Amino acid sequence: MSNREWHLLSRPVGVPTAEDFELVETAVPTPGEGQVLVRNEYLSVDPYMRGRMSAAKSYATPFALGEVMQGGAVGEVVASDMAGVAVGDHLLHFEGWREYAAVDAKSAVKVDPEAAPLSTYLGVLGMTGLTAYAGLLRTASFKEGDTVFVSGAAGAVGSQVGQLAKLKGASRVIGSAGSDEKVRLLVEEYGFDAAFNYKSGPVGEQLREAAPDGIDVYFDNVGGDHLEAAIGSLRLGGRIAVCGMISVYNNTEPAPGPRNLARLIQTRGRIEGFLVGDHYDLQPQFVQEVGPWVASGALKYRETVAEGIENTLEAFLGVLRGDNTGKMIVKL
Ligand SMILES: NC(=O)c1ccc[n+]([C@@H]2O[C@H](COP(=O)([O-])OP(=O)(O)OC[C@H]3O[C@@H](n4cnc5c(N)ncnc54)[C@H](OP(=O)(O)O)[C@@H]3O)[C@@H](O)[C@H]2O)c1
Repeated sequence: MSNREWHLLSRPVGVPTAEDFELVETAVPTPGEGQVLVRNEYLSVDPYMRGRMSAAKSYATPFALGEVMQGGAVGEVVASDMAGVAVGDHLLHFEGWREYAAVDAKSAVKVDPEAAPLSTYLGVLGMTGLTAYAGLLRTASFKEGDTVFVSGAAGAVGSQVGQLAKLKGASRVIGSAGSDEKVRLLVEEYGFDAAFNYKSGPVGEQLREAAPDGIDVYFDNVGGDHLEAAIGSLRLGGRIAVCGMISVYNNTEPAPGPRNLARLIQTRGRIEGFLVGDHYDLQPQFVQEVGPWVASGALKYRETVAEGIENTLEAFLGVLRGDNTGKMIVKL
């Protein structure tokens, strides 16, 4: 038995390229003290991983050069001496980007493939789902009747933010995305009140057309001109939750800031960044509230599924390009 895993060879400058990575064949790892052997079935590739490829100081340690990268994964236990973890159990853990993983049993979470499809523990019922929930309800202090704007709206986090806002009584939900097909999906399938393609014209103008009376909440996944447009449309007491700024992740120079920050004075507006890692106390509430909506179809989700460990890098690069609709997943 052998294992394949993705190593980071060099720190990407600008858009990452295949030369920065290598798919390496190794022996299947031997579990150490407190570990079990897991055969990964689904891997998560996420925008934040771009940050870990850089050496810049951040909330997560940079990936080490010449070593396997990490990421969310779900797999089946194939060897275990640990009490409470049996062969055949499924674990959610953080040793992604590889076929076989020696996983610390204590830090892994048992998941039930009967309760929900395994891939959903990485997406709609997992990290990206909780990000949407915590960012909207806690950081943006969403309340019934709010008009909500979300960017990256056809992605994993964004599609859930918009639908959650509708389910919780938003008066109007607007989304932006990078293709007409995604815009159509937002309105026709996810029930957004309005949506626009940010590549088709200035974001500020398109937002003013979609929300002529302004917005109470902006859930930022993108940064850049989206953030400036949202500040420009903010109503009195408006709130901006900064979840991500994918438009700047490949920049080699700092991006210019919004030119209209002074509007925060008039609107008494608030901008606040957040990290999902600080909000895991909401996990039980999130699963209890959102799980039934997902099961009933009241909250819809899509996944873009790449197949095979060899396509993991391409799947990750695809997330940065916008190839995905909903959560990008790699099925092994
Ligand atoms: N704060 C946290 O704890 C936390 C946790 C998870 C995720 N995040 C952040 O949340 C955001 C969404 O993450 P996700 O996992 O749900 O990814 P995603 O939205 O499923 O995928 C990323 C999407 O970003 C869009 N995009 C790429 N380049 C863009 C650009 N220059 N301008 C505008 N849109 C662009 C693409 O869609 P289009 O086709 O629409 O361009 C792409 O599909 C990211 O910024 C991520 O870093 C933060």
